[in-house]
Amino acid sequence: MKKTAVKSGIYWVGAIDWNIRNFHGYSTNRGTTYNSYLVEDQKTVLVDTVKRPFLEEMLERVRAVTDISKVDYVVSSHAEMDHSGCLPEIMKLCPRATVITSPNGEKSLKKHYSHDWKVRVVNSGDKVIIGKRTLNFLLIPMVHWPDSMATYIPEDKLLLPNDAFGQHIASVERFDDQVEWEVLRSEAAKYYANIVLPYGAQVAKALEAVSGLDIDMIAPSHGIIWKERISEIAELYTKWSSNTTLQKAVIVYDTMWNSTGKIAEAVRRAFDENSIKALPMNLSFTHISDVMTELLDAKYICVGSPTLNNGILPTVASFLAYMKGLAPRNRKGLSFGSYGWGGQSVGIIDDELKGCGFDMFNSVKERWVPSREELCDITERVAEEISKGG
Ligand code: FEO
Repeated sequence: MKKTAVKSGIYWVGAIDWNIRNFHGYSTNRGTTYNSYLVEDQKTVLVDTVKRPFLEEMLERVRAVTDISKVDYVVSSHAEMDHSGCLPEIMKLCPRATVITSPNGEKSLKKHYSHDWKVRVVNSGDKVIIGKRTLNFLLIPMVHWPDSMATYIPEDKLLLPNDAFGQHIASVERFDDQVEWEVLRSEAAKYYANIVLPYGAQVAKALEAVSGLDIDMIAPSHGIIWKERISEIAELYTKWSSNTTLQKAVIVYDTMWNSTGKIAEAVRRAFDENSIKALPMNLSFTHISDVMTELLDAKYICVGSPTLNNGILPTVASFLAYMKGLAPRNRKGLSFGSYGWGGQSVGIIDDELKGCGFDMFNSVKERWVPSREELCDITERVAEEISKGG
């Protein structure tokens, strides 16, 4: 296995997961990587490990650089098992090593692994000198768990922020100048929308904390390393963390006999009449994590379902639960749907969207199959509401 240097004396020793397609509910169509980094100085430091099934792949990469037993410090930036999963085996192989982690990391690792490792707990501002280099620690709680921590190495202008700035891309390419920008941008957006979105305030704090640092490389724990596109990804994170939206609508729905599908199209035309881009997304064909990616910068979120057994279709219920957890803010909502007799679906969706804190349009509800005239009326009414300050 050949060495992959990211800086002189600093190596990528992670693993490539080509086949993962579901990352706790998020569809990872391009797979992912678990990025670990090895720093060789007077002390040898391993920053994070990989998911447990990839131990051997990681060890092969470490062996290409050094003997694993020489590791002095293992930085555990985040206890989620895609990064900490190999810690028990790694600590057996380098028993003299000390684990460096945040206060919450210490608690999490104890509960995950019930271990007896030497642990050094660090807080923001703490430093560990490892020779020519200094490891500077910065706690970034909730990006992604309460324990999340970044390591900054000023001598290399290198930030290792763990999950922040990640993307789920399996690739032999390691750097952002080797991968098309549109792929990077869209995968970074999908990652933000499905993992980081609820924590905008914490992301903003983390961005502020790193804004004064001299950085020429950001090496996250998933996907591609940023070096040529640092300003672009930082700008996107600033925009996403503030819930800044575009004049864009996402029309999310499912349908039984296409009556709700017809209403979705009538609603789409209403946005079209206002020259607002509107994207219909049928949940029978679209994964909820792809819907979230489109919602990331959409001002308008329209959700539709027919009534089924006094409720809503399970696909729509699942989407609403998922979106509620990811907590998009500053949006306008519209509920719509068809029904035969009970007609509960629209009210259920309306309540859910109100529960998300959305400012709501008047809902749209049609019995049985909407006629051409009724569909035209829907378009006209919704278009008017949009034009009046939607
Ligand atoms: Fe990549 Fe939150 O773990």
